[in-house]
Amino acid sequence: MSALLEVRGLSVEFDLKDGTVSRVIDGLNFELAAGRTLGIVGESGCGKSMTALAIMRLVPVPPGRIAEGAIRLAGENLLDATEARMRDVRGNDVSMIFQEPMTSLNPVYTIGDQIGETVRLHQGLGRREARDRAIEMLRAVSIPAPEKRVDEYPHQLSGGMRQRVMIAMALACQPQVLIADEPTTALDVTVQAQIFDLLKELQQQTHAAVILITHDMGAIAEMAQRVVVMYAGRKVEEAPVDEMLTNPKHPYTRGLIACVPHLEADPALERPPLMEIPGVVPSVAELGRGGCPFAPRCAEAMDRCRQDMPPETAVGEDHTAACWLYPDAEAAA
Ligand SMILES: Nc1ncnc2c1ncn2[C@@H]1O[C@H](COP(=O)(O)OP(=O)(O)OP(=O)(O)O)[C@@H](O)[C@H]1O
Ligand SMILES: [Mg+2]
Repeated sequence: MSALLEVRGLSVEFDLKDGTVSRVIDGLNFELAAGRTLGIVGESGCGKSMTALAIMRLVPVPPGRIAEGAIRLAGENLLDATEARMRDVRGNDVSMIFQEPMTSLNPVYTIGDQIGETVRLHQGLGRREARDRAIEMLRAVSIPAPEKRVDEYPHQLSGGMRQRVMIAMALACQPQVLIADEPTTALDVTVQAQIFDLLKELQQQTHAAVILITHDMGAIAEMAQRVVVMYAGRKVEEAPVDEMLTNPKHPYTRGLIACVPHLEADPALERPPLMEIPGVVPSVAELGRGGCPFAPRCAEAMDRCRQDMPPETAVGEDHTAACWLYPDAEAAA
């Protein structure tokens, strides 16, 4: 696979008010090819959105910073790019659907203005053409009567329609990489299924690479070919989706999958939220003491787990995990 997007050794830190530094992403690696979908899954606070912000170079600086690593888009390290170049990248190459559609749509502009604005800004279209393009995009995301809807304000639309508008905005410039951060969390399951179908269809047409961020392993099973499991800012496991679902290695991943009953059942049926693993994600202060961050919650933890950080190792073909249950596995490249 030749990678379109390559994330290598990415670490993100925040300066906290008490003078300490918290590392919210630690040594993250993954890559993604055009036309493919990578799922990133993990509990609240594990660093999924921060990973997305880092790729967009939108980590708030200060108090945050990208401390280490490389993010290569078609070979270009975005961490070396100028701010002007990044604006270009964000408008044309990498776009994002944010977690909260209502906070990312501006209530005082019509949706046509908002979609049109992105194409005017980044593709230099005139007013008329931008409006036509907005209508075309609304049609592409199956919004009925797009000629009429284009002049409406966000509050006039249902949650599902607003999410479609977000997708229309994100895809208006035909990005190479689309990052969808919990794109359907606020929506009911029928609408969720529609949005996922739409995303898949648009991806087939545009051949975009998609990063799907979610708590929902069921959504990953439907959408992605590959999945990265994150815990406390680190990747704990990565594998093709089928392999991950049938042969999870890390106790954390096993917990996540065990928490999703009937994964193979009708995707339109309601799925319960992912997490019922006992305990909570460690606070930032508890991290960085050495040892596996999951050890305090892990039923299989050994002394070593509390002392040394497990490295990412190959635990199967095209399958890695960071866990001392597999001490003899080979260190992954
Ligand atoms: N401005 C900030 N200062 C300090 N820490 C921050 C800041 N913003 C985020 N963090 C921390 O970064 C970590 C990762 O947050 P992130 O938003 O990426 O989590 P997430 O996996 O997207 O969670 P969720 O599923 O709830 O969206 C969290 O521990 C969070 O507290
Ligand atoms: Mg998030």
